[in-house]
Amino acid sequence: MTTQHLRNFSPGAEPRTPRPLLRPPAEVDRPGRVPVDHADSRRSRELRAEITGWTSYDPRLAADVLSGLSQPRKSIPSTWLYDQRGSQLFEAITELPEYYATRSEIALLRNCAAEIAEEIGPDATMIEIGSGSSRKTPLLLGAMQRPYAYVPVDISGAFLMHSAALLRGRFPDVRIMPVVGDFKRPVQLPHALRFAPARGRRIVFFPGSTIGNLTPEEAVQCLERLGDLCGPNGLIVLGVDQNHNEETLLPAYNDAAGVTAAFNLNLLERINRELGGSFDVGAFRHEARYDSDKRRIEMHLVSVREQTAEVLRRPFAFAQGETIHTENSYKYDREAIESMAARAKMRRLAGWVEERGRFAVHLLEPHT
Ligand code: TRP
Repeated sequence: MTTQHLRNFSPGAEPRTPRPLLRPPAEVDRPGRVPVDHADSRRSRELRAEITGWTSYDPRLAADVLSGLSQPRKSIPSTWLYDQRGSQLFEAITELPEYYATRSEIALLRNCAAEIAEEIGPDATMIEIGSGSSRKTPLLLGAMQRPYAYVPVDISGAFLMHSAALLRGRFPDVRIMPVVGDFKRPVQLPHALRFAPARGRRIVFFPGSTIGNLTPEEAVQCLERLGDLCGPNGLIVLGVDQNHNEETLLPAYNDAAGVTAAFNLNLLERINRELGGSFDVGAFRHEARYDSDKRRIEMHLVSVREQTAEVLRRPFAFAQGETIHTENSYKYDREAIESMAARAKMRRLAGWVEERGRFAVHLLEPHT
């Protein structure tokens, strides 16, 4: 997505799960067991909403943040980085000079799309996981023979609908059926596809090295679920960053312009906005580290001083230098992908590597 797109991007209403009215934090721990507080009348809730601007929250966000900040080593699942602002900042990351992965993957897909499309065959349905701006989609969809349907799945609803609308203009003959979903959980296909007689194959496109943002165990489970989603005749097109060179890795996650820092720090702003948090965002800084044993980049938010922040009125203390671990990005080479695929009852059919050897696309098929 270009900066032009970013500026023109108009949100629309983000589809949300129903949110409960804001109550004291006790309810997060023991839903339904808090006695009705008569003093907390509707009017006083409304007044409080006027004053604070927070009226409701996502209970899963609240549960993940409260439990993550209660651990001895604080961490928050990376899922929550991707609100609308986070998704916009992420798109900006993909255009940074330091962030090579998106460009490498696009160049690679340009070269191998025809071969992949050959393998896929006609009338296929493509499901894309973490589709974001769907920028890589046309490369595959455009190479496929009579694609039947395209199902982009993304956690940021407003973003998803915007991208789907653009694609409809570009591929008028393909049924474009966006689904708001989180790939850490089972993805529900639209009814029209779940119960329709099978046409061509079902393909899951999982680009962007997003698999690397899961732990290795979660990654195996995720592949298993994606295998179920596309069925025994299906195929997974998996894009992974396999770079192990720290000199190019570290800047990719800590750019000079500070966009990755803004993306990471937006999590604290989101908590302030959505959970009545009191984080002093200026008192945290972004840090990217490379763990060469685990072969992963870690993103952290480092507390620059001793401080306390409240979330849903609960205090959390931070020592100077203490961090919140916000994301991992594992770097899997071919052998690692082969053993992960085997654990998920799949086999690696084929693969392509970009010329500098940093990025790979693998084709995986469920065992028959
Ligand atoms: N999945 C990609 C990666 O790990 C993209 C990505 C996710 C990313 N979160 C990020 C890139 C944070 C930079 C910073 O590389």
